[in-house]
Amino acid sequence: MVQVVRTTKELQQIVKDTKKAGKTIGLVPTMGALHEGHGSLIAAARKENDFVIVSDFVNPTQFAPTEDLAAYPRTFAHDCELAEQMGADVLFLPSPKEMYPSEDMTWVEVTGRITQVLCGRTRPIHFRGVATVVTKLFHLAQPDRAYFGQKDAQQAEVLRRMVKDLFFPLEIREMPIVREADGLAKSSRNVYLKPAERKAALVLSKSLFAAQKAFEAGERSTQKLTDGTRAMIAAEPMSDIDYVEMHALPELTPAHGTVDCPHLLAVAVRFGTTRLIDNVILDPSK
Ligand code: PAJ
Repeated sequence: MVQVVRTTKELQQIVKDTKKAGKTIGLVPTMGALHEGHGSLIAAARKENDFVIVSDFVNPTQFAPTEDLAAYPRTFAHDCELAEQMGADVLFLPSPKEMYPSEDMTWVEVTGRITQVLCGRTRPIHFRGVATVVTKLFHLAQPDRAYFGQKDAQQAEVLRRMVKDLFFPLEIREMPIVREADGLAKSSRNVYLKPAERKAALVLSKSLFAAQKAFEAGERSTQKLTDGTRAMIAAEPMSDIDYVEMHALPELTPAHGTVDCPHLLAVAVRFGTTRLIDNVILDPSK
């Protein structure tokens, strides 16, 4: 049975007892509205750790006032079921007041290019909110391993950097993107899409897979691969491009013409009012 925990105090006691028993802890931070993408992270955590904590918290500090905090889907009963099915031991469901007891607060901010490119450009406060809440979760859950999806590849890089800079004694595990049968990356935000937008949104995975195929056939020009992806997306009348960019991994350093080391090709595109992200990693060693 998954144990639903709503207070930080109760979670800290459980973590203390678990550590005392010599068990390893896997943490899966989420904002709820769980789908198979989240499920794959929980399953990996279950496989690699003795005790699995899933957090389910729509973190207000990573949303700008103009964004979808109020509308963000909340499906607690379903989340409990999926977390249990995938083998979680604890589902941590704190209130905003529990995580942010005072308006005066401590921020954790990863600075530099890594938080300024891609989603950092159009969502300037986003990664500060993510780093702050994930720091709180790391301190509360004290995981040996924490699980994140390649779906949010920039987020995983930012958090890797934070873990390194702040000497968190844990391993970040990044899991592949889980997709719908037709290729659309699973996302809690897909429920916002109207039927025509849902159909149009397929251009994201299609264009990224086309770039991957060109790369596998020997194309190494960052410009050509990026331009090809952008052109395919722009040809879809319902798409409104935020970015189509390539950056070198790790740490999203500038691409310099040739894909001679792993590069992230990432897109963010609006369909109606819904902004979707997707990416592929182009790795010449594979
Ligand atoms: P959320 O969007 O709920 O995502 C939680 C985790 O699930 C993230 O690591 C994300 O990359 C992963 N994920 C989402 N869709 C996925 C998919 N299709 N395949 C594989 N993994 C997927 O990311 C957040 O929440 C928040 O920013 C959080 C880290 C919880 C901090 O508030």
